Parts: sequence; structure tokens; C-alpha cells
Amino acid sequence: MKALTLRDIKKAKNQNLQMLTCYDFQTAQMLNETDLDIILVGDSLGNVMLGYETTVEVTLEEMMIFSKAVRRGAPDKFLVVDLPFGSYGTVSTGVKNAITLFQQTRAQALKLEGAYPYQLKLIERLTQNGIPIMGHIGLTPQSVHQLGGYYTHGKNEDSATRLIKEAKALEAAGAFSIVLEMVEKDLAQKITNSISIPTIGIGAGAGTDGQVLVINDLLKEGPNRPPKFCTPIADMFEQKKSLIQAYLNEQRK
Ligand code: KIV
Repeated sequence: MKALTLRDIKKAKNQNLQMLTCYDFQTAQMLNETDLDIILVGDSLGNVMLGYETTVEVTLEEMMIFSKAVRRGAPDKFLVVDLPFGSYGTVSTGVKNAITLFQQTRAQALKLEGAYPYQLKLIERLTQNGIPIMGHIGLTPQSVHQLGGYYTHGKNEDSATRLIKEAKALEAAGAFSIVLEMVEKDLAQKITNSISIPTIGIGAGAGTDGQVLVINDLLKEGPNRPPKFCTPIADMFEQKKSLIQAYLNEQRK
């Protein structure tokens, strides 16, 4: 299946773009054979692959290892890789680390969380260096300690006004698309209508230009209930557990 290009994605307003996370070679091989639009190696790998409490613990080296595996498995997909916590704390460290991550993972784009002035400057610099950037606002899990938890954003006027401003500023800085995570659904639609680049929502209702989910939540790979905005399409944890237990029972007969 032919990979989308950056130009295809930029034009995909109202096109219901589908993005899923992926972290390993074989899952990437499987996704490569589907018509999924975008693969994201999210720093959520810290939670679902490494068992970390938050994505704050994820390092650049870890992003590198998982992203390279995904690239090898899915050579034909548009691949976006997350810049992890602490790797873009200043414009100069961000430029240095982004170039390394982009070059070594052979991704088509990187994603970073937030829209503070220095982050907008960083996005300008990176896009000028040929690195396409996907923005990410609303719930930004790398700032969970600063935010004081995981909750829906944009519920009051101040927060809504700020998010609209941030989305417009990200577009002006050169971002080609923006993830809206846990943004109140009417606001997510309003933001979507107020910018010309596609928005990709997670827990942000149906009014965005696309959707993203953590693949482990969608398949329910773990024992815990996924976030309430995700309806799993399988219970792989229980299915795999039963298969392995049946195999063990057979072996011990
Ligand atoms: O890390 C991640 O998986 C993400 C998505 C939730 C958008 O950033």
C-alpha cells in the first residue's frame, strides 16, 4: 500500500485520518499490510511496553530502539516519532536531539507536546531544517506533574481560549497537524474549524479530522480497563492468557 506523504496529510481536512501507535517490529509488519494512514511511535511506550508510571521516564535512547524496530517492520507507512520528555527543554537541545532522532529512525515526522513560545520557535527551526512536526495540545502527558493529573481540557473559557490560541500558533509555526488529547468535544471541533491543518483527536470527540489510539488499548493487551474514550475491539490479554494456559495444560497431561 502506498505511503501517504506529508502533502497528502496536510490536505486531509475532514478525511478521517487514522493513526495508531506501534512499538515493535512484528506489529509494525502487520500494520504495514493494512490501510492505516499514520503510525505513531508514541512515548506511551513507556506505559505499555516498559511499565513506567508516566511518560516522563522515557528516554531518547528508548524512543530510538522502539522506533527503529517499527521502521524496519513498516517501511511503507508514514511514521511519526515522539520527542520524549527532557529532549527538547531548550531550542538548541531540541534541534540537536530532533535531528538525531529523525535521522536514525528514518521517520517522516516528529511530534512534540506543548505550544510555549520556545516550543513554537523550536518548531520553526525544525521545519526549516526539513523535519516535519506534529503538534500535541490539551492533555500533554509529559507535563502530568505540572498539570496535576489526567483530565479533559478546555472546559472553561480561559482554557478554551488558550487552546484555540495554541492551535493557531502551532499552525503558524509550521506544524503540519495537531493531536488534540482529551479536549472537550465541542471545543475540539471549534479548533478543527479554525485552522487549516488536520487535527487528530484522542478522547476529543468525533469532530476532529482524524483519530489516534494506543494500539494496546484498542486490542486490550493489558489486564486493566483502557481509558473510557477507547472501546477495545478485542481482549487480547484474556485471549492470549487462555491460549497459553491451554498449551500448558496440554504439556502437563
Ligand atoms: O504517546 C502517545 O501514544 C501519544 C498519543 C496518545 C497521541 O502521544
